[in-house]
Amino acid sequence: MSVPNPQAAKRRDWWRAAVGYEVYLRSFADGDGDGVGDLRGLLAHLEHLAWLGIDLVWITPFYPSPMADHGYDITDHCEVDPRYGTLGDLDAVIAAAHELGMRVVIDLVANHTSDQHPWFRASLAELHGSYRGYYLWRDGDADGGPPNNWVSYFGGPAWSRDPSSGQWWAHLFLPQQPDLDWSSPHVAAAFDRIVDFWLRRAVDGFRIDVAQGLSKHASLADNPRRSDPMPDDGPRQAFERFEHRYDIGQPENVAIFERWRALTEPYDAVLIGEVYLEPEAIGPYLRGHGLDLAFSFAFVDLPWDATAVSDALRATLRHLGPGSCWTQASHDEPRPPTRFGAGAVGRARALAITTLLAGMPGPLVLYQGEELGLEDGAVPADAAVDPMGGRDGCRTPIPWSTGPAWGFTTGRPWLPMDSWTASDTVEAQRDDSSSSLHRHRALLSTRRRIDQDAPVTWLGGSSIVAYRRADHLVAACVSDEPEVLEVPSGTWAIVFSTHATRRSTEVAGPSIGLRPAEAVILERRPAGSRSG
Ligand code: GLC
Repeated sequence: MSVPNPQAAKRRDWWRAAVGYEVYLRSFADGDGDGVGDLRGLLAHLEHLAWLGIDLVWITPFYPSPMADHGYDITDHCEVDPRYGTLGDLDAVIAAAHELGMRVVIDLVANHTSDQHPWFRASLAELHGSYRGYYLWRDGDADGGPPNNWVSYFGGPAWSRDPSSGQWWAHLFLPQQPDLDWSSPHVAAAFDRIVDFWLRRAVDGFRIDVAQGLSKHASLADNPRRSDPMPDDGPRQAFERFEHRYDIGQPENVAIFERWRALTEPYDAVLIGEVYLEPEAIGPYLRGHGLDLAFSFAFVDLPWDATAVSDALRATLRHLGPGSCWTQASHDEPRPPTRFGAGAVGRARALAITTLLAGMPGPLVLYQGEELGLEDGAVPADAAVDPMGGRDGCRTPIPWSTGPAWGFTTGRPWLPMDSWTASDTVEAQRDDSSSSLHRHRALLSTRRRIDQDAPVTWLGGSSIVAYRRADHLVAACVSDEPEVLEVPSGTWAIVFSTHATRRSTEVAGPSIGLRPAEAVILERRPAGSRSG
């Protein structure tokens, strides 16, 4: 149990320099042999995260759920699903993480519940009862169609019809994930109690699921169609055919964040929004007493192109500043090495981008397996389970060691793990100082040397993306050709390179040649110092 921290005002920015790590619980480590990752599995491997240099562990939903969307469809926000363990197991994870110097952030899923949640069951049963107002129930249009033209992120209309009342319920995701009505004071009060429940259980903050979606415009008006429609070849494209003027990105969301912030501040806990909006639209959520931090998703679908990389860094820095959670991967997106062409080239490019993100002001958040350089696992059509489609590959379980199911489970893993080889495992990579795991660990420790108060000054040429922060310079060759990095005057040592073969503490000349996809961090030395 936790009590409000009277020193909070002084310590509230503990996350500024933090390195976070997303644990997609189902796929991290299985402690009971049912093939699904769980809290005991996580507990057993927390040491790996501490060794890697992680400060903040974000755990994806562990709540009771029918698992229509793998746990993002919740029936009780204050319990643990037996497949993941017990509240006691969660307490043990939090206590052990704290012991290892790490904080724990949990998912707050407030845009929707499961259709099996008691609130929704009650709202279905009583047309005029008090729970009806928890959700967005509306009459259809004059032609018997849905109330408006909104579409779900998962494709198809964002409305489903209840045959018994003839009314429709709104859902930005699956029909089994009915959207809550955040204009209801009962919903707001219920979530105050949920947030308070977890703060008292000593969690260090919340990752707010679908933060852009909570409030809907009171008119529930049709969204205008975009004049530049995307090719219609998937759920995302269907969603992006519209200008989302009335369903997401409403300014009223800020009032919800402020409400939670009033609860989290006394506990020194952090609010991190998952905000799928353009960087300029995220900025307002971070002002005043709204969110502490927001994920920027500018990097999850970035092409290997220096201008695109530089533009994404600049836009995110301009609009989010140190409130940005820098990330390029999650359980919702293809793994970066896969996106960047797979194999050694894909891995090198992904690590170069991670290096550029790592030097920025604000937390860096890795997704489990990024430190191993994992690509998406192959999931044959008959084993696919993602309701949206396309997200199984990035969710295949972590290979811990050689042996059955790569040490993930003693049972049958919930997604196939056939893509891994021995060199992908944590065990092999810990033994190999040139591994992706050791490069990531070196990067995270080098990041700690950067002055978090230092402003960012842009440097670099056409294919080099580079910036300076006081005594550190971060640069990446975003090209398939070697490029020359011009080093500012003074004595600079190379304190990190994505290429394990480059000698560390090598003193740079007035320029250094970077290999394709090589990224480095340089540190300024007092004049006259020599190579170490
Ligand atoms: C978030 C989650 C995603 C889930 C969706 C609906 O975007 O990251 O996995 O499907 O919310 O809850």
